[in-house]
Amino acid sequence: MTVLKVTLILWLCCLTRQRELDVFDYSDILSIRKVDTEKEPVHILYTNFYRRFQDDHAFNKSTISRIFITSYNFATIKDNTFDNFPELVVLNLDDNGIEYLPEQVFAKIPKLNYLGLKENKLKTVNFDVGNVEILDLGKNRLENLSNDTFSKATKLTNLELDGNSIGSFEPLTFRGLSSLDVLSLKENKIENIPRDLLKFTPALTQLYLDDNVLQIVDPEIFTYTPLLQTLSLNHNKIATLQPTSLSTLRNLKTLNLGGNKLSTLHEETFKGLDQLLALHLEENDLQHLPSATFQNLPHLLNLQLNNNKLTELPVGLFSKLKSCYNLDLSNNKLVELQDGVFAGLQSLYKLKLAGNGNMTISQHAFDGLSSVTILTLPALENEDLKKIEAFQGLQEVTVQGINLENVKIGNMRFKIRYFDVWNVLRV
Ligand SMILES: *[C@@H]1O[C@H](CO)[C@@H](O)[C@H](O)[C@H]1NC(C)=O
Ligand SMILES: *[C@@H]1O[C@H](CO)[C@@H](O)[C@H](O)[C@H]1NC(C)=O
Ligand SMILES: *[C@@H]1O[C@H](CO)[C@@H](O)[C@H](O)[C@H]1NC(C)=O
Ligand SMILES: *[C@@H]1O[C@H](CO)[C@@H](O)[C@H](O)[C@H]1NC(C)=O
Repeated sequence: MTVLKVTLILWLCCLTRQRELDVFDYSDILSIRKVDTEKEPVHILYTNFYRRFQDDHAFNKSTISRIFITSYNFATIKDNTFDNFPELVVLNLDDNGIEYLPEQVFAKIPKLNYLGLKENKLKTVNFDVGNVEILDLGKNRLENLSNDTFSKATKLTNLELDGNSIGSFEPLTFRGLSSLDVLSLKENKIENIPRDLLKFTPALTQLYLDDNVLQIVDPEIFTYTPLLQTLSLNHNKIATLQPTSLSTLRNLKTLNLGGNKLSTLHEETFKGLDQLLALHLEENDLQHLPSATFQNLPHLLNLQLNNNKLTELPVGLFSKLKSCYNLDLSNNKLVELQDGVFAGLQSLYKLKLAGNGNMTISQHAFDGLSSVTILTLPALENEDLKKIEAFQGLQEVTVQGINLENVKIGNMRFKIRYFDVWNVLRV
């Protein structure tokens, strides 16, 4: 009888895919698959009306470790839906249109570790997540998160809130998240972060705030998160950074500030970030950088300064970046590369200077770049190539759009192993 009912519902769903099922029920279950993993077979419960009905026997709740009920279109589930699943570890309810969840529906699943609720229609988080460590609430309709939303989620290590409509937080929104390691808030409408917001997340190592509308970063915010290793603020509206905004982040390894409105930086902005490995400053309005800007970044490997409005690079700007491997200065407005401007970049492998229009390259501009093997340059006039001593010691150079018609490569005294193939063919 049950089998017949299941089959019928499957058929119904296929015929009327847009129909909303108000309450999810196990009679809707379409398939149970036994999957052999490396360790032991796991029973995975799938209900997804795009999938063919496979197995018609009743399932044994006590052996099921993963449940996927996705793309099924129901607004809520009953309070007892997940009772008596002692082995359930992964529960994925993505893409269903869920609007409301009973408060205790997940709290009774003893081993639940991952809870996926992405692409639903939740406006609040009113439910208790029990022992869940990874919670995905991306692409819902969350707006204002109130005090103590996560106060019982003390085991949570990863919280994903991307793609909601979160504009503001109450100061105690994250109270209780004492184990939180990764917090992702990309693609929301966040304008500012209350000073004490991260007071309750001392274990945080990764914070993603990309694609919001932040204008300022309050220096106090990060005093509570000294373990932070990744701070991602790409694509906001940040125009200035206080000199001390980031100074407490002694363990920071990646700092993303690309796609903002920074026009200048204070020379102490990155002071204290001794462990930084990657710094993204591309796609800002940077016109000028104080020569001490990157003084305290001895471990930096990757510096992205492309797509800004830099007209000049003060000598000494890169002098302390002895580990730097990749420096991207493409698509700026550099008019001149002075002698010794890259001195100190002893580990540099890749230097990009394409897209800078006409640039005067001084004879000793590239001195000290003994490790550079890839150099991309803007279109150069033959005129500039006469100052060719500048290229001595470089191993491999790509010149974009170069006009080589009147240049005899064989007579050049510098070593260029690689040219853009198209240009070589035209010679
Ligand atoms: C369900 O699985 C458990 C554990 O393997 C077993 O002890 C129990 O007898 C099974 N119940 C049924 C109804 O098959
Ligand atoms: C969220 O907060 C904003 C501004 O404080 C308010 O206008 C809006 O009504 C709130 N939304 C909800 C769902 O409470
Ligand atoms: C949230 O907590 C803060 C700090 O205790 C308090 O000032 C604020 O009124 C609380 N908000 C609500 C809506 O209770
Ligand atoms: C570079 O300068 C030359 C002569 O000054 C000019 O003809 C040319 O258009 C300039 N190229 C660019 C890309 O600005």
